[in-house]
Amino acid sequence: MLKPVEHIRHRPAPGRWPDVAQAARARLFSPLAHRNLRLAQRSWVPAMVPWRASEDGYVNDDVMDWYRRFARGRPGALVVEATGVRDISSGPLLRIGHDRYQPGLEKLVEAVREASDGETRLFIQLIDFLPIRRRPAPATYFARYLKITGRHRRALGAENWSEARVRKALAELDETTLERVLDARELEALQMGLRERVTDTQHPHIRALPRVLPGCFARAALRARDAGFDGVELHYAHAYTLASLLSARNTRGDGYGGAREQRVRLPLEVYHAVRRAVGDKYVVGCRFLSEDCIAGGSSLEDACYFAVALARAGMDFLSLSRGGKFEDARQPKIGEAAYPYTGASGYECIPHVISDRRGPFGRNLEAAAAIRAALRAAGEQTPVVVAGGIHGFEQAERILARGQADLVGVARQALADPDWFLKIRLGHGDAIRTCSYSNYCEGLDQRHKQVTCQLWDRVAMDESGVKRSKDGRRRLVAPAWTPPARADARNTSTEMR
Ligand SMILES: Cc1cc2nc3c(=O)[nH]c(=O)nc-3n(C[C@H](O)[C@H](O)[C@H](O)COP(=O)(O)O)c2cc1C
Ligand code: SF4
Repeated sequence: MLKPVEHIRHRPAPGRWPDVAQAARARLFSPLAHRNLRLAQRSWVPAMVPWRASEDGYVNDDVMDWYRRFARGRPGALVVEATGVRDISSGPLLRIGHDRYQPGLEKLVEAVREASDGETRLFIQLIDFLPIRRRPAPATYFARYLKITGRHRRALGAENWSEARVRKALAELDETTLERVLDARELEALQMGLRERVTDTQHPHIRALPRVLPGCFARAALRARDAGFDGVELHYAHAYTLASLLSARNTRGDGYGGAREQRVRLPLEVYHAVRRAVGDKYVVGCRFLSEDCIAGGSSLEDACYFAVALARAGMDFLSLSRGGKFEDARQPKIGEAAYPYTGASGYECIPHVISDRRGPFGRNLEAAAAIRAALRAAGEQTPVVVAGGIHGFEQAERILARGQADLVGVARQALADPDWFLKIRLGHGDAIRTCSYSNYCEGLDQRHKQVTCQLWDRVAMDESGVKRSKDGRRRLVAPAWTPPARADARNTSTEMR
């Protein structure tokens, strides 16, 4: 996690909570309808990867428990974690790249529907990502991974040496000499781990992205629709393939990079393929970045342009995040992979309570408001979702009243207390467990460990039926909550059923 230079500790300040009557009149709990999107309220749980799927990407009981628990809080919408559209192995990350995943996904839909009594709309985030390797030990890198070229031989004066001797000589060089002998990508592969980019068009599979991706996303979206999800969110944000295509750093020369019109071309082609597959009546939206937050990356102006283009194409919603890039990620330890939330852009994406003067609460609001204004000025009414440090009712109401967004995204606060939505609605805001924005959960994500919250994962461990993490030390879902005044009211209890 990045430590901002100013190092100012901010305190979450949720403010006053409404009583039942005030909540009933609140903007947050008012319905929203636009094109295919129909929500009973304007609250939204953005995607969060919990590292709980089976090793080969299937829905299992842990995944069901995770989403069931969110659904019991009855947010307006719940987005299932980034789910891979390709049929490639990716450890315990959820996958939708083959029909064999469908039965599990169907069960997940049923579980959420039952737990929220049908109130929460369930979307699934569809993702494509390019390979990234763990940072190698230097000895392994020089012995196995580095492709020896004439450049290396010339730099060493080793034209006639055997390859084994060249490798050995390279492994013995000091850092300064290595910086001269290796090119920038080779150095990066050594220091950070090899990472493919959308601009690596020398590789046939990268060149083929425009041909391959629309079909992958379309087939995945069809599976989502057939499994019963209420819609799909195309993942065009953070460090992944479609976001990298949108980025101003995308210099592809094949008509899919360079100017904005070309950078948005493949995201639009993916959208159109998805739309053709699922039909006009199904919810299709996307998540993208209001700003890349890296040097040379896309700006707010770019995002306004993309928003209008994506809305005109027919997106049912636009969800905004910010940053979360590999380009400024911290160097991982040997044996670990780079994590796109460790640099300044990562900080913008998942801001910590120790921050700069602006603080971690609502860092994306200004940008979201500008993007929404650009949409409205272009005659597009597409709803905008904003997230980032939102944890108070008054804060949420202000966002909606000021027109900064149409839907309020609450990620970590919903993880800290999945009943945030229900507690506010029922006039029990004072019972909310407020997120400390400590990023303990993000630390678990970084280490690919089952994600839990520091505020509840050691609570009531001996309760019957409590499932524990693989190391046995943490409970996997938040404790149940029953409204005090209606302890017998089964339909508002969040107890595990
Ligand atoms: C553990 C964890 C996993 C996340 N996984 C995803 C993801 O799969 N897709 C995504 O778009 N954002 C992901 N995010 C980012 C959140 O959706 C959200 O944008 C971010 O946490 C800021 O919102 P918040 O301040 O309400 O938490 C993740 C965040 C956390 C903490
Ligand atoms: S661990 Fe819990 S309290 Fe800490 S940031 Fe994550 S959700 Fe919030």
